[in-house]
This record gives sequence, C-alpha cells and structure tokens, in this order.
Amino acid sequence: MTTETAHGTDRSFLFVLGSSRPAGNTKILARAAAEQLPAGVPQRWVDLARLPLPDFQDGRHESDNWPAGENEEALRQATLQATDIVIASPLYWYTLSAQTKRYLDYWSGWLTVPESDFKKRMAGRTLWGVTVMADDDEAVADGLATTLNHTAAYLRMRFGGLLLGNGSRPGQVRQDERALIRAKTFFQREAPLARFPYEEAAGAR
Ligand SMILES: Cc1cc2nc3c(=O)[nH]c(=O)nc-3n(C[C@H](O)[C@H](O)[C@H](O)COP(=O)(O)O)c2cc1C
Repeated sequence: MTTETAHGTDRSFLFVLGSSRPAGNTKILARAAAEQLPAGVPQRWVDLARLPLPDFQDGRHESDNWPAGENEEALRQATLQATDIVIASPLYWYTLSAQTKRYLDYWSGWLTVPESDFKKRMAGRTLWGVTVMADDDEAVADGLATTLNHTAAYLRMRFGGLLLGNGSRPGQVRQDERALIRAKTFFQREAPLARFPYEEAAGAR
C-alpha cells in the first residue's frame, strides 16, 4: 500500500456540494478542511444546486445511447479530471442528500459510456466525505460512511473517510470545535484502498 497523502504532488480536488441551501454547514466544514490543502493543489467546487441533474434514467442495457445533458457532461468531465473527489453532503435521513445520491447514480451510467473507461480511470483515485448533521451522536452517520466506502471499493478507489460535524441552523457547525479541529488535518490522512467487508475478512485469514 502506498502512503501517498493529499499533500502529494499532482493532486487536484473536486468538491461536490449537495446541500439544499446555499452557504450551509456542510460547505462551511468542507471549506475549513480545504483551506488546509497546499496552495499548489487545485480545487474545483461544484454546487449541485447550480448544476442540477435530472433523475437518472437507467439506459445501461439499452442499445441506443442516452444523450448526456450539458450539466451531466460538465460533471463527468470534472469528475474525470480530479484525483480526489469530495462528496460534501448534509446528513439527510441518515445518508446522502438526494442531490449527491443522484450524482453517484450517474456514475453508474458513466461506467457504460462507450470508450470512457470510467471504472478503469477512477481506480486508484480517492473518495472523501464531509457531512454535517443535527444529531449529536455521530454513529447515526454510519450509513453514509458505509455508502461512500463501498462506492470507493466498487471502483477500486481509495477512501479517505468521512469528516463529521454537528449543526442544524446554517452556520451552527462553526460552534463545533471538535469538527473544526478535525478539519485541519482531514486531508492529511492516509487514504487506503477501500475494501468491502468480505475482502477485509478474506485478507484477515
Ligand atoms: C431533508 C432533511 C433530512 C435530514 N435528516 C437528518 C438526519 O437523518 N439526521 C440528522 O442528524 N440530521 C438530519 N437533518 C438535519 C441536517 O443534517 C442539518 O440541518 C445540517 O446542518 C444541514 O446541512 P447544510 O446546512 O449543509 O444543509 C436533516 C435535514 C433535512 C433538511
């Protein structure tokens, strides 16, 4: 396993914001983490509220190609151009917001775009998560962490983990000192290749 961290060379970060309100807590926490990245590491921020995707249409097994919309294509290109993808989603019903979930649904479509090699190209890149929730008990976000870990495992990506914060009203996460401290070093973490539980179990034998 390599020990490359987000401070390595040739990294570029895509932050995918999936809140239903502007300037929400999740964006504040993601910004706090991003501020710590070296100046030379490019950051691109996309807010899915400004680049909305229609509901995903599953045309994976149709012979005619589904025509990609402008926003879809912009997101696909941004995704393929980044070495690190940060899903910044508020905790909604113990998991991803609909906006970020829909963005990931499109990954399934991109897997079958002819000659795009999406799976091959995503392998080895790093997925990260940032979330803010009203609940004080961080264990209730386990479902979201599992979703992101398994998504990364499916694509043979690395997973840097989930940065958690607490807050309900906009801006409230600024009072979560523990989250802001964690944000300072979040992207310095090692991000191992993500594995499914059955792979972990087989590896432990
Ligand atoms: C649709 C919806 C679902 C929510 N579900 C949860 C939840 O399951 N658990 C929780 O702790 N907070 C839940 N919340 C509270 C948000 O996670 C919290 O307000 C968070 O700060 C919103 O982040 P934002 O400001 O980035 O939008 C929910 C809020 C909304 C609007």
